[in-house]
Amino acid sequence: MFEVSLRPLALRDLPSVLDWSRDEAFCLANGWPVGLPPEQLQDWFVRLLNNPPVDLVRRGIVVTSPQYPSGHLVGFVDLRELNPLEKRARLRIAIGEEVHRGQGVGYAAGLQMLEYGFTELGLERIVAKVHNSNSRMRSLLEKLGFQLEGILRQHETRQGIKEDVYLFGMLRAEFPPMSTIHPLAQSAS
Ligand SMILES: CC(C)(COP(=O)(O)OP(=O)(O)OC[C@H]1O[C@@H](n2cnc3c(N)ncnc32)[C@H](O)[C@@H]1OP(=O)(O)O)[C@@H](O)C(=O)NCCC(=O)NCCS
Repeated sequence: MFEVSLRPLALRDLPSVLDWSRDEAFCLANGWPVGLPPEQLQDWFVRLLNNPPVDLVRRGIVVTSPQYPSGHLVGFVDLRELNPLEKRARLRIAIGEEVHRGQGVGYAAGLQMLEYGFTELGLERIVAKVHNSNSRMRSLLEKLGFQLEGILRQHETRQGIKEDVYLFGMLRAEFPPMSTIHPLAQSAS
């Protein structure tokens, strides 16, 4: 049994980011080359903290469990490309190490960020893009309630292969409040 919560990132999280930068799936999800030099990552991280882009909300994903009683940062979840006029944004989730994937953490973090986007930020539409080969993220988006809205054929090159990119979307009316429909949204067993 564990609980998932979201919090802003801080400078003390730099060692975690450096660890995640060695994980291929994490780097692919963020568009980073694997094995970026630590100095480059540190520069990027400090700049992000000091001068965050206005169109990005990023929250660290924290797992609390008997193994991690005071909480363990496992990745981050973004609302990117925030467009206040159109009231829309794009969801992205990245868990830094394989050991924390496939246990429901991405689902719980995604639900909480959707709730934040639709209720706190007043968004009316949240989209997500996923490469064809990323079946885990595709399943997660479907489980979160996203609808497939289109396929951008051979849209991006990943590891030397042109891949289709799936566009998913959710409207505010399609997201029920966690308190009524998703009572277990903040925890998973
Ligand atoms: C993609 C990612 C965010 C998913 O989060 P997660 O915590 O691993 O996923 P969850 O455990 O919440 O699983 C959600 C659903 O995905 C599916 N899923 C889980 N593991 C899977 C796997 N190995 N293969 C296919 N589908 C899988 C299941 O349908 C699952 O729901 P279920 O457990 O009720 O059956 C996470 O694995 C990750 O960060 N991967 C690397 C970075 C990445 O690819 N980010 C996405 C960029 S677009």
